[in-house]
Amino acid sequence: MKIVYVTNTGSTKQYAEMLSEKTGFEAAEFSEAVKSFSADEEIIFMGWVMAGTLQGYKEAKEVFSNIRAVCGVGLFKGEKAEKELREKNAVTEALFALQGNFSVDRLKGMYKMMMSMMIKMLKSKLKENPQPDADKVLAAFETGVECVSEENLEGILSWLEN
Ligand SMILES: Cc1cc2nc3c(=O)[nH]c(=O)nc-3n(C[C@H](O)[C@H](O)[C@H](O)COP(=O)(O)O)c2cc1C
Repeated sequence: MKIVYVTNTGSTKQYAEMLSEKTGFEAAEFSEAVKSFSADEEIIFMGWVMAGTLQGYKEAKEVFSNIRAVCGVGLFKGEKAEKELREKNAVTEALFALQGNFSVDRLKGMYKMMMSMMIKMLKSKLKENPQPDADKVLAAFETGVECVSEENLEGILSWLEN
């Protein structure tokens, strides 16, 4: 099994490296993985979430024929987040939503501009469809959120054990 990841500000890379350390599976960023892993390798794909879209998942599906599990790194965790990710991205594999870090300061160019749009969208979505920790997450937007933690890998680690 190998780990393939796509990151923007580094949270997904952190999770990929943590998971690699815990499992012994080699981890590589997608552009590197394409060159060094074979196409039929068993893969855990990890991608950051942008406007509901699991970044790099579609591309990874085109290259790797044996994706076994998927982790979406975004603002939310839990069943609701997983259901949304699954539906929006047509994920057929085991799926885990992991909370990442968020900081406007770490964003560049286009992503910085998209953020104000995203916050607006998120607020209206959360009104209709409340998520656990939503208030905390929204309030923390100004100062940034640091949610990468080993605990969040428990779901995928127990899935791997079974
Ligand atoms: C432009 C933009 C759009 C985002 N859209 C979402 C989203 O729809 N849902 C979500 O849960 N998180 C969203 N996020 C938050 C990121 O997924 C989160 O900060 C994640 O930790 C980034 O991972 P990375 O550090 O590996 O790049 C968005 C962030 C940016 C910059």
